[in-house]
Amino acid sequence: MADKPTKGLADVVAASTALSDIDGKAGRLFYRGYDIHDLAGRATFEETAHLLQCGKLPNRDELERYGQELVRGRELGALVSANIPEIAEKQKPMEALRSLVSLSGADDPDKDSIAPDANHRKAARLTAQQPLLVARYHAARNGAEVPEPDPALSIAANFLLQVTGRTPAQREVEIFDTCLVLHADHTMNASTFAARVCAATLSDMHSAIVAAIGTLKGPLHGGANEQVMKTLESISPTGVAQAVREKLDAGEKIMGFGHRVYKTEDPRATHLRRMSQELAESTGDDTYYRMSKEMEEVVFEMKGLYPNVDFYAASVYHYLGIPTDLFTPVFSISRMSGWTAHVIEQHADNRLIRPDSEYIGERDQKWKPIEER
Ligand code: ACO
Repeated sequence: MADKPTKGLADVVAASTALSDIDGKAGRLFYRGYDIHDLAGRATFEETAHLLQCGKLPNRDELERYGQELVRGRELGALVSANIPEIAEKQKPMEALRSLVSLSGADDPDKDSIAPDANHRKAARLTAQQPLLVARYHAARNGAEVPEPDPALSIAANFLLQVTGRTPAQREVEIFDTCLVLHADHTMNASTFAARVCAATLSDMHSAIVAAIGTLKGPLHGGANEQVMKTLESISPTGVAQAVREKLDAGEKIMGFGHRVYKTEDPRATHLRRMSQELAESTGDDTYYRMSKEMEEVVFEMKGLYPNVDFYAASVYHYLGIPTDLFTPVFSISRMSGWTAHVIEQHADNRLIRPDSEYIGERDQKWKPIEER
């Protein structure tokens, strides 16, 4: 008989990985051994994606080559391009992304291979295409044209330019780039686990990423950042403490708080809080930052919970001019670098992921013909 399951697989070690590591008690996060505090604000998202997908921080030549691969790889295929308008009309952003990534698999020149070199090329293409898919989707639903990405600009700068329609300030680009670095990988989170389960059947990279996007969409995972913004918008700036107390007293969860692994402050939240404050000061409207700070104090006082990565990401994205329903797609733009690296890692040393279950249903049922039921 199987052992009692651990509900939600809490504390179960489900895979070995060299990609990222968390010390939940100390509130520390590492990508391939580098402390997130050393990477945030110093490494670019492109360097971070290279670190995850190719195993090392790139030198100048490697970064140049990887950058060119990203520029070449972001060209969207015919099938995906043709379907953006109709998908934009019928699907919400994360549903659309799931559909569009699935279609882009059909366009991919390496679609029939899971060999390491094909997987690396697909990882770069998926990373390059994700921001463009979000920007094209957003433009299509607004009946607008999207400016072509500028090969001289970073992923962060191009995305802000394409989605907001204005040239972002240099500091805005730096802040958004840091957000992408902070969200890039996070051990065996639900969407990464979903990607690895799919990849472990020797299915292909795009199938695994579709599984991951569907999993990130949920409000207990990546969908929380959008819910945080909706909470901020739904309560009065002068009634924050009361609104939060009422929600908690009613047994509601406050989105953006709590974490399965961190028992102290999420190190990513430290950077995001600081960036939210900076943007609040520079825009001259600190309402959402102040409300967030107050929410944080009340939730800690009542539940002892800390903000997670999604909490201050909401006000940061808001201040950067990103539409609220694109917050979770933005998460996927960054996490694509980690998901694809995990698929590469899974395929490199694979075994089918197939856990056991505890049976809790009826036993020894007697068959009855349909007329007797
Ligand atoms: N607000 C209020 N109470 C909470 C919250 C919250 N955000 N999070 C946890 N709790 C409470 C639960 O109600 C539960 O209380 P109980 O023991 O009295 O029933 C206790 O803390 C444990 O919570 P669980 O949901 O069992 O913890 P778990 O480890 O399964 O879940 C999770 C972690 C999903 C992140 C949870 O904290 C949550 O739902 N947070 C809100 C959603 C969120 O912000 N998700 C993003 C997470 S980060 C990411 O995925 C990128």
